Amino acid sequence: MKKTFVNLDKIREISAQIPTPFHLYDERGIEENAERLKAAFAWNKGFREYFAVKATPTPAILKLLQKHGCGVDCSSLTELIMGEKCGFTGDDIMFSSNDTPDNEFVEAARLGAIINLDDITHIEILKNLAGIPKKICCRFNPGGAFEIANKIMDNPGDAKYGMTREQIFAAFRELKNLGAEEFGIHAFLASNTVSNDYYPVLASELFQLAVDIRRAVDVKITFINLSGGVGIPYRPEQQPNDIMVIGEGVRRVYEEILGPAGMDDIAIFTEMGRFMLAPYGCLVTKAIREKHIYKEYIGVDACACDLMRPAMYGAYHHITVLGKEDAPADHLYDVTGNLCENNDKFAVDRALPKVDMGDYLVIHDTGAHGRSMGYNYNGKLRSGEVMLNADGSFDLIRRAETPDDYFATLVW
Ligand SMILES: Cc1ncc(COP(=O)(O)O)c(C=O)c1O
Repeated sequence: MKKTFVNLDKIREISAQIPTPFHLYDERGIEENAERLKAAFAWNKGFREYFAVKATPTPAILKLLQKHGCGVDCSSLTELIMGEKCGFTGDDIMFSSNDTPDNEFVEAARLGAIINLDDITHIEILKNLAGIPKKICCRFNPGGAFEIANKIMDNPGDAKYGMTREQIFAAFRELKNLGAEEFGIHAFLASNTVSNDYYPVLASELFQLAVDIRRAVDVKITFINLSGGVGIPYRPEQQPNDIMVIGEGVRRVYEEILGPAGMDDIAIFTEMGRFMLAPYGCLVTKAIREKHIYKEYIGVDACACDLMRPAMYGAYHHITVLGKEDAPADHLYDVTGNLCENNDKFAVDRALPKVDMGDYLVIHDTGAHGRSMGYNYNGKLRSGEVMLNADGSFDLIRRAETPDDYFATLVW
């Protein structure tokens, strides 16, 4: 059974001040997980997690992770601005973007961020806009299918990201000629991997590439960025990843491949979003309508604008009816939002205890790529965010949108 990190009494206390729907984050869970990650990679001197801001672009979250040594991975102008406002500067920022507009390169360069080039053609563009920095990273795409133990995890050959093997060699050569002195390699080859083998298999591929590039181009590679992609068990029957096993798996291939090549001073970077935050956030919503037609429907006060993953990918998010954790799940419901879109369903044919109007529903694992993917279709206003602090108190860390926010960009 998947457990919530909050109980009914606490939700009643919070919602007396902050009406549902809202995303709630578990400060203690976030901090403990960040420390576990650090412990798992403690063997690597330069290890650092650059939290993927796109997952949860909220200053309170970024500052909390900053306390645990994390940098930020930004993918846009506004994420760069938010990073700077939260006190991240220079090497604290990784800029991993694609199809990058000029002004974003300029801003990343102004901040001294580590720029991760998605394509070989971006070298000339960056050179003309801001010059080539001393420290630079290139994103690799090996093409084909990415497999672990004969199981296809994803298809990099169909992905728009990164450079081919030939291109990354040429890119490093060109960047070296243009004055770059320190190099990094980055790749993101599979998403939401619920497997302890993803990072070790990816790492061995990137470590071997680093050895080959060093031999061919003679550049100083100082870091390898394993990016995101480490998943979480959205479904109750899934086994969670064990970050200690993952860290140990990466250490093994590091020693096997980089050790003999005399390259064992390379720092490992990660830029995870989902693994850092998803389980430590939930969407709290209230049952406000019920409908009995060809199916049984429970209408809640949140909609896909607050959490798009089910509508967009058919993603599973577990649901707990607070206060009814031990009741039999003997009713079959579609749990819906109020958009004029039939895919605005948080769950389809989900077995739940009988839901009564006014019940609080906790939609699990929304801490990453949840609130941040929200949108404003139907003029719906996105919910706010609340931090449940380790001492049991709570703070509003982003207010809900108001009609004024929605109208702010309009020319009447
Ligand atoms: C470049 C880059 N880095 C990191 C991440 C974070 O991935 P995840 O949340 O799966 O860890 C993403 C997600 O889209 C990404 O595009």
